[in-house]
Amino acid sequence: MKHPDILKQLTLEQKVALLSGKDVWSTYAFPQAGVPSMVMSDGPHGLRRQLGRGDHLGQRPSQPATCFPTAACLAGSWDPALLEEVGRALGREAAAQGVHMLLGPGMNLKRSPLGGRNFEYFSEDPYLSGKLSAALVRGVQSQGAAACVKHFAANSQELLRMTSDSVVDERTFRELYLTGFEIAVKEGRPLGVMSSYNRVNGAYANENPHLLTEILREEWGFTGMVVTDWGACNRQVDGLKAGSNLEMPGTQGDSDREVLTALDRGEISLDVIDRRVDELLDVALATNKAARTAPKHFDEGAHHALARRAAAESAVLLKNEGGFLPLAPGTRVAVLGDLALEPRYQGAGSSLVRPTRLDRPLDCLKESGLDVIGHAKAYRRNGQPSERLEREAAELARRAEAVLLFLGIPECFESEGLDRDHLALPDNQVRALEAVAQANPNVAVVLAGGGALELPWLGRCKALLHGYLGGQAGAGAAADLLTGKVDPSGRLAETFPLVLADAPNARYFPGRERTAEYREGLFVGYRYYQTVGKPVAFPFGFGLSYTTFAYSDLSVRRDGVSFTLTNTGARPGAEVAQVYLTGPRDGVFRPALELKGFQKVTLQPGESRRVAIPLDEYAFRWFNPKTNQWEVEGGAYRISVGPNAGDLPLSAALEVEGTDPGAVYDKKTLACYFSGQVEDVPDGAFQALLDRPIPEAKWDRSAPLTLEDSFYQLSYARGRAARLANWVLGRMARRKARLGEPDPVSLFIRNMPFRGLVKLSNGLADTKFALAALDMANGHGFRGFFRALSAFVSARLEHRRRRKRLGL
Ligand code: BGC
Repeated sequence: MKHPDILKQLTLEQKVALLSGKDVWSTYAFPQAGVPSMVMSDGPHGLRRQLGRGDHLGQRPSQPATCFPTAACLAGSWDPALLEEVGRALGREAAAQGVHMLLGPGMNLKRSPLGGRNFEYFSEDPYLSGKLSAALVRGVQSQGAAACVKHFAANSQELLRMTSDSVVDERTFRELYLTGFEIAVKEGRPLGVMSSYNRVNGAYANENPHLLTEILREEWGFTGMVVTDWGACNRQVDGLKAGSNLEMPGTQGDSDREVLTALDRGEISLDVIDRRVDELLDVALATNKAARTAPKHFDEGAHHALARRAAAESAVLLKNEGGFLPLAPGTRVAVLGDLALEPRYQGAGSSLVRPTRLDRPLDCLKESGLDVIGHAKAYRRNGQPSERLEREAAELARRAEAVLLFLGIPECFESEGLDRDHLALPDNQVRALEAVAQANPNVAVVLAGGGALELPWLGRCKALLHGYLGGQAGAGAAADLLTGKVDPSGRLAETFPLVLADAPNARYFPGRERTAEYREGLFVGYRYYQTVGKPVAFPFGFGLSYTTFAYSDLSVRRDGVSFTLTNTGARPGAEVAQVYLTGPRDGVFRPALELKGFQKVTLQPGESRRVAIPLDEYAFRWFNPKTNQWEVEGGAYRISVGPNAGDLPLSAALEVEGTDPGAVYDKKTLACYFSGQVEDVPDGAFQALLDRPIPEAKWDRSAPLTLEDSFYQLSYARGRAARLANWVLGRMARRKARLGEPDPVSLFIRNMPFRGLVKLSNGLADTKFALAALDMANGHGFRGFFRALSAFVSARLEHRRRRKRLGL
């Protein structure tokens, strides 16, 4: 133990209390024993510090903070140095607001373009996600606050995110879903890891010793603390035993009682409790100085400027026909679209930041040296068609030399708690584009949104700039790029498929009841498209610049590649050079390409530079499920270098020494994985990949509901009132959607299991109360009602007694 003196001074009940939150954001303080309270706050791209009553869904106000570009946007920079800089600014703001731990970065893999929270995550590639996260973590922690990488792990869908079981084979789990976290933990050394809500192969992430102890602490050497996602603690005793330190938010004693009873029964030892408290104290003490003594102010102007630069270096220019962009100063432009007036710059849910200021595209364009001749709304934000708005926009377009049309994914399409249904832009926005393009074909579209889109309308515009959700200064960044003040250097961190149906997991995503089956295995994103040679709209890594680059003279070694990069255009610019590996594919199946290195290089016109990119410990390894370890297969590898996964002009062979894995796989049964044709994986193949029977995917509608079942399952509850409650929640969400807004509250409740009544009510309900509510849902209305009433009263009394015992 690192803090034996403190442990000695704490009573058993105080130790147990430290392992659950005091309220929504902080832990208990026991000053006489030298234990400070630790304050946590969202979120990945800005602080959401609530000083009044807290909530974890972004509903109540928070202190103003810089809203930096979201992870989906920042990932486009492919620039760890930039991420570290943003991290430093976030760390400064955290310390200034008295926050010990910033709940970010979010770094789940973008398994499907439909993932509703993709805007909070970096990439479909674990190497890129890992390197960027590690950099952000280093930046945050350089200021004395802790970062907390989340959501650990295999938490790639929003629907039923709190109850569903991610069924994923160990190799895919390691190579895709854990590698990013591994890099972040080893290279960023975060003090916090947040365990996710879902189960992984049957066990809740927070109760999974394989994940939290064997892999995280023993293999990766993590020495910080694990905090649950808000409400992700199922059984506190099992969580503590598995390696989790802190349940958030607090339950005002319910979990403590569970632990103390388990201790009496010998189900958990005092040693485990002491170890978990010790690990937590280590983080609380390490971060307390910065949270208490850092300057209370930060330079808002400087952070805003950094947010603008970060957004400009991250936005991706996808099309630029005939060098339409950049627009020369004085060009007569019509600025169109509701989003040009009221930008969409961040996503909904727990990451919602109250910005210190907000740039609007129309204002920024007026200040950019362009001649803005006017603005028209062009479409309604809620998706309703309007011929009048289209006509007005077309009229204005007709009078302009160039049209800048701001389109985007509406708020209610993507949100925490909600996956997307499709990848299309709303019809009314496409109609507006068509009307405008007919009036004036010189249209540049500027997109906002957290992810990929289908672009059947691409032919209607001359240029397309994807700004993602670029934070409070994203509008200024767009103006800088459109006018050429900044050269576009962002590259896609995800593939844009032609249509959703092309996605490898279009049939499996999202899991709709008990499980989320990761049937496509390793073939996620470009790993799939490149293996099967499926055409895409824009490949992974793609992005244009106002200049051009050429690659030559590749030299390849086991520990790195080098090549010459030349700026062949007339303007300075930055290129993201990417290194991909193709491994031997005889005995072991593999995707055709895997990203293993990258570097952003800025070059003057005509300048050539020798670029060296190392191949590190992640380059040649694969996870052998038979030996249960990482190995390097000996054989012939190919290393390719170029601007994106679909365009790799340089390539060389490399013979690598390693093991002979032999016949690990049965090629006949696993034929789909050898070919990469994973669109419709048969049960037999998936079962062989899992090396165990496929778990039941459906809910058992004849069984009574339990504490671990979700509110969605009220749809088939026996109690009439419960079914009515389900209808009301559905109606709330539908009504908000009609208004064009997501409803994180009803979404959260529907995804929540019944135990959430205990875990998320800040002590208002205890386990007895939740069981009584279940009684009602299961058709025992009267019995449930009276039990609930008595549970409520006794919980209030016990609550008071506990505070006295704890000396609070
Ligand atoms: C989210 C986390 C967030 C937490 C606290 C949860 O609902 O999944 O990402 O940090 O709330 O707001």
